[in-house]
Parts: sequence; C-alpha cells; structure tokens
Amino acid sequence: MTEIARKPTLAQYELTPQPRKSASPPSMNGAPSISGRVFQAIAANEPFTAEVHAGLANEEHVLEIERFDLWYGASRALHSITMPVPKGKVTALIGPSGCGKSTLLRSVNRMNDLIDSVRIEGEMRLSGDSIYAPGQDVIELRKRIGMVFQKPNPFPMSIFENVVYSLRIDGERDKRVLAEVCEASLRGASLWDEVKDRLNDSALRLSGGQQQRLCIARAIAAEPEVLLLDEPCSALDPIATARIEDLIDELKGSYSILMVTHNMQQASRTSDFTAFMYLGRLVEYGPTGDIFLQPHLKETEDYISGRFG
Ligand SMILES: Nc1ncnc2c1ncn2[C@@H]1O[C@H](COP(=O)(O)OP(=O)(O)OP(=O)(O)O)[C@@H](O)[C@H]1O
Ligand SMILES: [Mg+2]
Repeated sequence: MTEIARKPTLAQYELTPQPRKSASPPSMNGAPSISGRVFQAIAANEPFTAEVHAGLANEEHVLEIERFDLWYGASRALHSITMPVPKGKVTALIGPSGCGKSTLLRSVNRMNDLIDSVRIEGEMRLSGDSIYAPGQDVIELRKRIGMVFQKPNPFPMSIFENVVYSLRIDGERDKRVLAEVCEASLRGASLWDEVKDRLNDSALRLSGGQQQRLCIARAIAAEPEVLLLDEPCSALDPIATARIEDLIDELKGSYSILMVTHNMQQASRTSDFTAFMYLGRLVEYGPTGDIFLQPHLKETEDYISGRFG
C-alpha cells in the first residue's frame, strides 16, 4: 500500500469541545434544546427528540432509518431511532457500552432476524427500498449491505476463495472474472501486495490485521452500497489500526460506511458524521467536526471529553 499522508486530525485539538454557543443552534427538528437534562429525561422515559444538526439535510442519504424500535423479548433496546445516513460518507456510531450501537447496525442488514426474541417496529430504507418489507430477499439485501465484525472472521478456506465467496454463491465460474475481482478487492483493501504470491494459502494463517483487511476485501468484492463496520479495529494493534483507518479513508466516496467505534480519536479522524447514542436513543447527530468541537448538547460534550461513560 502506498503510504498516504495522515490528515491533520481533530485529535490534535485533544478533543476539547469549544464552549457551546448560548443561542439555540440550528437543528433539523427545530425542537427546543433540553441540554443538561437529556440523560435524566431518557432514564425517566420522557419523550425526547434527538438533536439532529441541520447540516445532515444537505446530504444525499443512502439509508433512511425512521422511528425504528427493537425489542429483545420484553426488553427494549432501540427507541424510535430516526437517522438518515449520508451517501459516500463515513458515519460513526458512538456511545456507552450497551446503548444499542451493534443492535442498530445489525438491524440494517437484518442480522437480527437470526434472533427469535427480536421484534421490530418502524422503517429502514436502502436507496428507497424498504429493508423490512414483506418479501424482501434478505440474501440479496446482504449483498447490498456488507458487514465486517469486531473479530475478523475469515472462512476456513484460501485467501482467494474468501475474497470471491459472494461471486461463487452467485455461480460465477469464469476464472478471469474471479481473478480480476480478487485482485481489485484485495487492492481496494490494501492487502494485495502482502498476499499476491500466496493466494492459495489458508486465510487462517494471516495475521489479525491482515484477516480484518481480508474481511473488508470479501465485503467489497460484492460491491455493496453500504459497508457496516462494528468496531473493526478493536482487536488490532496500533499499526494495523492505522492501516484500517487509512483504508476507510480511501474507501470513502465509493462506499457509504456506517461504523461503530469506542475510540473517540478514531471517530474524529475517520468519520464525516457522528451519531451519539445513549440507552437505545439517538441523542445527537451531526457533522463530526461540530459533534467533537461544538456539540449542541452538554451530554455529548461530556461523553466525548471522557467526563461520562
Ligand atoms: N441477543 C440478545 N438478546 C438479548 N438482549 C440483547 C442481545 N443482544 C444485545 N442485547 C441487549 O441489547 C442492549 C444493546 O446491546 P448492543 O450489543 O447493541 O450494545 P452496544 O452499544 O453495541 O454495546 P458495546 O459497545 O458493548 O458493543 C444491551 O442491553 C444488550 O444486553
Ligand atoms: Mg457492540
């Protein structure tokens, strides 16, 4: 991979938010701010409208999440999430452990269908198509929405077969096509130079960081419209993490990425938009620079600066 110059990052400001302006900032819903008592309102189950920054309205949205609720049995994990996800951008989901980030991510490609106790209400649309419409082909849907998990999960087969897996499922047999897609995907995932001479080796022999890039290559081989990444670097060392972050930067534009991270510097470095969740609610959502440096809500500021959670 050619080393790209690392961008100056918000982390250089040590994530110190600027003092919030006293005047009410612009928000999409125009609701009065209840900054300072948001967490109490949520804990008391009072009605609460997320602070969605006006900047989001200017974006084209690949994914529209509307009043989405999810229950695991009697326990409610998501509360009326309304969240448009911009096309060709990186959106980070942040929030304390257990606030529903993975649940929301898994709902987008219907991984939660696999859990019997799950019940949902509300709507999600991918490029206008209802994700939960009766008759929606879930296999097709998952080709349009790729997912990479916290722990790399290469299949126990060769590097080559891992990458072309989705094409094999589709019945593609043309060796030239398979080889081309394999190379393009591995190049896209910045792994080609490291593995081009051992494509037939078992993927399980790759290092953790290489396995994670292989999983990204496997996901992008299917040419998804959306790439879901659930803490993709949490099992990696700082060098492998930096490579994945560079990769996310390079993939931006071609793909719309929705990424969960616990790492505030990573969210500030890699994402264009950041959504802050708490106890199953979307709390504040806006351009990453605004969320980190001029959040509208005190709660967001406290979380980002480590004074909470
Ligand atoms: N399969 C499941 N069955 C029942 N409850 C679940 C299940 N998965 C998650 N939950 C619950 O749903 C809530 C949200 O969990 P989720 O895994 O989405 O949180 P998270 O924000 O991803 O947390 P973390 O940062 O620790 O990964 C938690 O209270 C969790 O216990
Ligand atoms: Mg999670």
